[in-house]
Amino acid sequence: MFGKKKSHLTIDKEQLELITTAQKRVKQKKRLYIHFVIFLIGAVFLIILNTVLGVGKEVTLFGKEWFVYAIFIWLALFIYHVFNVFITQKFLGKQWEQNQLDKLVAKQKARIEELQKKVENKYPLPAPTSIEAEKKTQIIKGLTLIVAAGENDAIGKNNQLIWHLSDDLKRFKTLTDGHHIIMGRKTFESFPKPLPNRTHVVITRQANYKVPDGVIVVNNLNDALDVSRNDKQAFIIGGGEIYQQAMPLASKIELTRVHADFEADTFFPSIDKTQWIETNNVYHQKDDNHEFPFSFITYTRR
Ligand SMILES: NC(=O)c1ccc[n+]([C@@H]2O[C@H](COP(=O)([O-])OP(=O)(O)OC[C@H]3O[C@@H](n4cnc5c(N)ncnc54)[C@H](OP(=O)(O)O)[C@@H]3O)[C@@H](O)[C@H]2O)c1
Repeated sequence: MFGKKKSHLTIDKEQLELITTAQKRVKQKKRLYIHFVIFLIGAVFLIILNTVLGVGKEVTLFGKEWFVYAIFIWLALFIYHVFNVFITQKFLGKQWEQNQLDKLVAKQKARIEELQKKVENKYPLPAPTSIEAEKKTQIIKGLTLIVAAGENDAIGKNNQLIWHLSDDLKRFKTLTDGHHIIMGRKTFESFPKPLPNRTHVVITRQANYKVPDGVIVVNNLNDALDVSRNDKQAFIIGGGEIYQQAMPLASKIELTRVHADFEADTFFPSIDKTQWIETNNVYHQKDDNHEFPFSFITYTRR
């Protein structure tokens, strides 16, 4: 799960185009340099041809030897070459064309967005119905809320459980053994120490929240679900805030319904029977070890 990612050497299209353009520019400048060297050698050669070897000595124009004109014409060609490389290619080359095109596309996009906003303001879309909104929520297969709640949905007071029911704790341990247990920071702090053989995932908004080795800290529920994605049955173990956020995503609830009303400051969200169906119910009566009667009830999503 936390293995190193394989690194792939990849070049995207844009990078490739940049490299091709750069190579082209280098070639153009190389050719210009070669032209310059040939021009210098050529000019010296023309001067020697005329003045030393006497070729066309008698050919003059306006009192000047022919080689002077030849060198000037060549110089004009060379200047044209310089102009081409540094002005035409730079400002009117492919890159320049692309930039102009990009600017045009950006302008059109802005215009389309502006028009879209105008249309949306004038003809607002109807709000999605609750059924449509529900459909958008992705139910996560295997994600299970596990909770003990009183008849009035009470689950805790002063960051503590309100009862001690040893068989309920045993059931909690059996069900969650070997799995990820996702919890809010306050629930985590209500434990004396992390439970053995479970991966603890603690949700907090704090940036540098310190935890013992092996405990995973995340900053939102999505990340908690992400780190638990390879677990076929990850458990949301509370408290009230996290149950509330995770209930729309869960596919199962393992509820221990404690048959009494309790004074509390934290509650389990009420179970919507149109969304959940009871698939198992086992009653446990009050006895010497259990101050209250309770039932283990399993709900699965309809
Ligand atoms: N009966 C049961 O089965 C059961 C099970 C579990 C817990 N409980 C009880 O429930 C009570 C605790 O529940 P609680 O609702 O007060 O607290 P909680 O849900 O355990 O934790 C709340 C904390 O979680 C973090 N948090 C919540 N939503 C977040 C989000 N979207 N993104 C990032 N961080 C987020 C925040 O931590 P920060 O403040 O650090 O940012 C927040 O203060 C206790 O009394 C406990 O004993 C009962």
